[in-house]
Amino acid sequence: MTSAIRTQVGIIGGGPSGLLLSQLLHLRGIDNVVLEKHAREYVLGRIRAGVLEHGFAELMREAQAGERMDREGQIHEGFFIAHEGGQERIDLHALTGGKTVMVYGQTELTRDLYEARDRLGGKVIHNAEGVQLHEIDSAHPSLTYRQGSETRRIDCDFIVGCDGFHGVSRQSIPKEKIQTFEKIFPFGWLGVLSRTPPVSSELIYANHERGFALCSLRSSALSRYYIQVPLSDTVEEWSDERFFDELKHRLPAEVASSMVTGPSIEKSIAPLRSFVVEPMRYGNLFLAGDAAHIVPPTGARGLNTAGSDIYYLYHALVDHYSSGDDRGLESYSSRALGRVWKGQRFSWWMTKLLHRFPDDSPYDRRLQQTDLAYLFSSQRALASLAENYVGLPF
Ligand code: FAD
Ligand code: DHB
Repeated sequence: MTSAIRTQVGIIGGGPSGLLLSQLLHLRGIDNVVLEKHAREYVLGRIRAGVLEHGFAELMREAQAGERMDREGQIHEGFFIAHEGGQERIDLHALTGGKTVMVYGQTELTRDLYEARDRLGGKVIHNAEGVQLHEIDSAHPSLTYRQGSETRRIDCDFIVGCDGFHGVSRQSIPKEKIQTFEKIFPFGWLGVLSRTPPVSSELIYANHERGFALCSLRSSALSRYYIQVPLSDTVEEWSDERFFDELKHRLPAEVASSMVTGPSIEKSIAPLRSFVVEPMRYGNLFLAGDAAHIVPPTGARGLNTAGSDIYYLYHALVDHYSSGDDRGLESYSSRALGRVWKGQRFSWWMTKLLHRFPDDSPYDRRLQQTDLAYLFSSQRALASLAENYVGLPF
């Protein structure tokens, strides 16, 4: 049996993109429903991004979901790049005329968005199985999904695909209507979360002959560390002891010697990928966030680029419903892609600067060393890095 409801915007995916858009639209009186494939606890079990740019934090505040972020998140005015046994600081604040980033985990941010949705009585449907999109190139698209033995239908004006890289939305667009661009990297990041004081109060990105490493944090008592590993490695091969030994090898000696280690509370390997689909719209389906593009995590752009998509789409939908002005919807894909590609460029550059590529020649290695030497010899090069890291304007 099929039961049907009607809404203005049907959102697929209850990750940060879908929840943020849902909350922002609701606050502007635009009715919407979020369909999430998994249970809430499952979504909240994923440990992902940690660095938010100013524009993303502003969106959280506008969504009335920024209170805890402002209380518990940490403002960072700089970070370190370690190489050749030492480390140099990138003074984001000085290089950008006062801009900073917020260190606040995606898990906490997603929890805040769920709570904000609950407070307003937002419609977020979990465990929505077998979501399908129908008539997306028409003026009356719809969604169907299963809950238990029942099939349900949602009729809407627009569908927004916020269902991540493996979601159903992008796959529902006829192949000949889109172009995809992709680069797969020959390594992954092994990440560990541990209830230990962070080794550094600011992030350290390390270039080392054994491979990249990153020291990040979630709070003064919770550390998040990553090391570059071959794609063939599995989590089981990496005991906590082996992980921390390897991490310390890749850091300057004085940093390694002050590191406090402890049992991991999460450990996972993420492959690195760059991916973009063009355009980000087909008919009345709009794609946003990881459903439309992926970056390697090195420049902390993934979640932040999802944020700019949501910003453009939110304003476009508000213009449509408040004044019948469709210029924002018409230009959504090209506006979003302009910023998406800048995030791709920066992420690729940071990844190339800091990782060991298995088939790099001695020539490639010298170029990488020269790239680092140039960076730290030029205020303009540093300013370019800082400008991208804190986030380009929306
Ligand atoms: P997602 O967070 O992927 O959310 C999509 C949601 O859609 C999920 O909840 C999923 O369950 C749901 N869904 C999927 N398919 C369906 C379906 N068929 N029907 C209904 N719902 C569906 N970025 C950084 O900036 N820094 C990092 O350190 C970092 N680390 C990462 C580590 C990993 C392992 C991954 C995968 C990503 C990482 N990212 C990082 C990227 C960042 O987490 C993403 O850019 C961000 O999660 C994008 O949010 P999203 O809402 O667009 O997609
Ligand atoms: C984190 C992840 C990143 O990819 C990054 O560039 C900075 C921080 C993190 O998980 O804390």
